[in-house]
Amino acid sequence: MVTIRSGSIVILVLLAVSFLALVANGEDKTIKVKKVRGNKVCTQGWECSWWSKYCCNQTISDYFQVYQFEQLFSKRNTPIAHAVGFWDYQSFITAAALFEPLGFGTTGGKLMGQKEMAAFLGHVASKTSCGYGVATGGPLAWGLCYNREMSPMQSYCDESWKFKYPCSPGAEYYGRGALPIYWNFNYGAAGEALKADLLNHPEYIEQNATLAFQAAIWRWMTPIKRAQPSAHDIFVGNWKPTKNDTLSKRGPTFGSTMNVLYGEYTCGQGSIDPMNNIISHYLYFLDLMGIGREDAGPNDELSCAEQKPFNPSTVPSSSSS
Ligand SMILES: *[C@@H]1O[C@H](CO)[C@@H](O)[C@H](O)[C@H]1NC(C)=O
Ligand SMILES: *[C@@H]1O[C@H](CO)[C@@H](O)[C@H](O)[C@H]1NC(C)=O
Ligand SMILES: *[C@@H]1O[C@H](CO)[C@@H](O)[C@H](O)[C@H]1NC(C)=O
Repeated sequence: MVTIRSGSIVILVLLAVSFLALVANGEDKTIKVKKVRGNKVCTQGWECSWWSKYCCNQTISDYFQVYQFEQLFSKRNTPIAHAVGFWDYQSFITAAALFEPLGFGTTGGKLMGQKEMAAFLGHVASKTSCGYGVATGGPLAWGLCYNREMSPMQSYCDESWKFKYPCSPGAEYYGRGALPIYWNFNYGAAGEALKADLLNHPEYIEQNATLAFQAAIWRWMTPIKRAQPSAHDIFVGNWKPTKNDTLSKRGPTFGSTMNVLYGEYTCGQGSIDPMNNIISHYLYFLDLMGIGREDAGPNDELSCAEQKPFNPSTVPSSSSS
């Protein structure tokens, strides 16, 4: 159902191939360019390795480097953190490489790419933070403190999915990863997309940071339901709201990315803490990346306080296992 690669390029009409080499980060990054039916497509080494229009622009490692990752997640390896030594820049970039040809961080130019990193990683930081009011460095410096839910109260097995994504005996589908995934059906869908047997081995996500980031970026890039936009499409402006969306106050905004990912848990509830915490991380990251929070737009584009949820709850409230 979900595929990573857009499989539309079947017959290539090769009009021109040119090569252009440049050196970034001391690595050879060769941009290869050709035209397919008049449209320019490119590849860029391992980071953007399929012919795609998105691979003609800067890639993530061009504008988001290891020192910036360290600034954004500066407390993750302090002794009181809960996933010391787990998360690193290399895992993030390796995971991102699967999605850069689809436009992750490569849509719309460098500034949009930087903003998308601040937005995506702001979500990640908020969901994996152990920073509270009194923490040193401030509450926004503690993203990637966790890689799993610490005291799960249940196994998150939804039996109604037993034909498509049956729970594996003994497996626990508690929250894991960078945008934590919960429930057998989410592990099943992510595993299908990433070609990893997450239904039988949900623990892979807490053992492998690359896979954990891949699952998070997949969630960001993939609509949760058919006919809905992905958080990515909302953020970069690929999605055009319908009349109904506009009536529900859902625009092409950061606020709507929270809506499509978390629905009523975060949105449509007024100015609540879980929502404000995500927004604060996003703005903090814009500052750290040197863009500045002024660029994020007015508060009603950041917020989803007044929006109606894309996905009214269908998640079962209790476990059936
Ligand atoms: C590439 O970057 C330019 C601006 O630098 C932007 O206008 C264009 O839309 C980008 N291409 C794609 C495919 O996003
Ligand atoms: C971690 O996951 C990535 C992506 O699925 C995979 O390529 C890599 O081999 C895994 N690493 C280990 C040690 O299993
Ligand atoms: C319009 O939005 C409401 C509330 O979000 C939803 O219940 C309804 O099904 C939507 N209608 C259409 C045609 O999408």
